Amino acid sequence: MVLKKVKTAVFISGTGSNLKNLIKFSLLKNSPIKINLVISSNTKAKGLRFAKLFNIKKKTYNFRNKSVTEKIILRELKINEIDLVCLAGFMKILSKNFIKKFRGKILNIHPSLLPKYKGLNTHERVIKNKEKFSGCTVHYVNSKLDAGKIILQKKVRVSKKDNPVSLKRKVLKQEHRLYPKALKKILTNL
Ligand code: GRF
Repeated sequence: MVLKKVKTAVFISGTGSNLKNLIKFSLLKNSPIKINLVISSNTKAKGLRFAKLFNIKKKTYNFRNKSVTEKIILRELKINEIDLVCLAGFMKILSKNFIKKFRGKILNIHPSLLPKYKGLNTHERVIKNKEKFSGCTVHYVNSKLDAGKIILQKKVRVSKKDNPVSLKRKVLKQEHRLYPKALKKILTNL
């Protein structure tokens, strides 16, 4: 049986290591997704080069007028028959209206063990608080920041030697495992 892959858009703002990882995952024969579109909120996002490299349509929007931008993006999602949105280091907060239009079809990856450490600078705060564990979470996006239903989490041990940079590196490595695993969990019976 030929697997019908879910048409997916990935939203980024920066480095795009998760984007690169998701593209590689999408190219596997048994992957449940196909990435048809990359949306960036930043023209200088390094991650855009992965869209170019893998020949994926890319669009950049500055979000100066959020509601207009979101309307344009929704149209773009429709034109490209997108059925799933994966946020991966996307630094803009989507409006309630946008989320409603795509309810249950937007995922995000966050570099902490939610509900702990929502928002920005997670690694700095984890180190400052001398936490023994941190990690990452893939969750559905709802109208509250980093508060949607959790799909999967992975714990990471924080060592006494860790600083925000080393912790970020450790967590990112796990993020790259977790996002594909979460997609498999919700899209297939694997
Ligand atoms: C990741 O740590 C992700 O969890 C967070 O932003 C970072 C993006 O990294 N939301 P990258 O752009 O995918 O390399």
